[in-house]
Amino acid sequence: MTNRYNFFKIAIKNIKTSGTITPSSRFLAKKMLRKIDFSKAEIIVELGPGNGKITKKILSKLNSKAKLICFEINDHFYNELKKIEHSQLIVLNKSAETVKEELEKLGYSKSCHIVSSLPLTNIPDAISQSILHNSYASLEENGTFVQYQYTPTYFKKLKKVFHKGMTLDFEVLNVPPAFIYRCKKVV
Ligand SMILES: C[S@@+](CC[C@H](N)C(=O)[O-])C[C@H]1O[C@@H](n2cnc3c(N)ncnc32)[C@H](O)[C@@H]1O
Repeated sequence: MTNRYNFFKIAIKNIKTSGTITPSSRFLAKKMLRKIDFSKAEIIVELGPGNGKITKKILSKLNSKAKLICFEINDHFYNELKKIEHSQLIVLNKSAETVKEELEKLGYSKSCHIVSSLPLTNIPDAISQSILHNSYASLEENGTFVQYQYTPTYFKKLKKVFHKGMTLDFEVLNVPPAFIYRCKKVV
């Protein structure tokens, strides 16, 4: 699996799409997932898994009926993720924009939770809006979209899509410290 140094090399070469030079800390990974009830969640989606730091944490928490579906556009990270041997993991070399159609192709009508590390502020507005709207559409009622960013400035844009049920959290033990947005689909 890609170690920290290899992550740095790949991330810096693709800084626009990676949005960082280091993988998430275990503290951030833990905080991203702490409000998810894994005993009930059957379909979990991860957007921008990178070298799999959060992916592995999610896999360790899945119940026996659950599936984790990952969307990663970087070919190197995609190939590394494919090496994780886990029967409940599906890795797609597709953009997060396609989340709704790809879930439908797999025969899943809705996802229970979406965990995203996408560098939303680096992504052109039209694409990030499409990602957010397709994520919202693919979530079941009361499902959550959990996203980290290094600034709190994305709150307003997420609120335009999720309207209610939004909270902001913070993890200092990450380089750099990160804000965690939790958005619930309340209909
Ligand atoms: C900040 S890195 C996160 C890596 C890892 N999840 C972590 O937290 O350490 C962001 C990842 O999002 C991926 N990415 C960027 N845009 C994407 C898109 N439109 N669809 C899917 N993945 C994307 C990048 O290739 C990169 O692996």
